[in-house]
Amino acid sequence: MVEPDTLRSLLEAARWAPSSYNEQPWSFIVATKQDPAEHARLVSCLVEGNIEWAQHSPVLMVSVARLSFEENGKPNRHAFHDVGQAVANLIVQATALGLVVHQMAGIHPEKIRELYNLPEGYEPVAGIALGYPGDPESLPERLRQRELAPRERKPLTEFVYTGRWDRTSPLVSG
Ligand SMILES: Cc1cc2nc3c(=O)[nH]c(=O)nc-3n(C[C@H](O)[C@H](O)[C@H](O)COP(=O)(O)O)c2cc1C
Repeated sequence: MVEPDTLRSLLEAARWAPSSYNEQPWSFIVATKQDPAEHARLVSCLVEGNIEWAQHSPVLMVSVARLSFEENGKPNRHAFHDVGQAVANLIVQATALGLVVHQMAGIHPEKIRELYNLPEGYEPVAGIALGYPGDPESLPERLRQRELAPRERKPLTEFVYTGRWDRTSPLVSG
């Protein structure tokens, strides 16, 4: 279980994210295991491969983006970017408090739209599962291997450019 005060502090961190025109285009649908019906509703919005592990997570969320500006109805090209940034803030706060967060592209956006009555112009972005770290030994083999595998990222030289596209920046070329 994650204490409500702790959860509120994560959402507070998300709230303070910067956004284009300070539009704050994010919303979060939240479900905790303390309310089994709501938890089950959110689990039902995940793809099968994610349900396998995420159903055990005490807290599930879906981030939602408002795609147009409230002020003038024009498309907000940075809506997804800003929702991601709010989630990044949430993750930093969660990590500082000893929680682990796993995001999920594997959701059913149309089902979410229907089940939660999303108004037009709002788009589900990603699922979020969070909780305190569990014991990897309790996972099925395939998931345990993934959990314990070394973490990998591309080197800076593959994506930092100066002068023109594909010219690696001297800043990172060593
Ligand atoms: C937007 C986003 C969507 C993701 N979707 C899924 C998903 O549906 N299922 C899953 O198991 N992991 C998902 N992940 C986790 C990534 O696969 C993971 O972060 C990546 O493989 C790097 O692993 P690491 O964060 O453990 O280093 C997602 C991550 C992000 C940021």
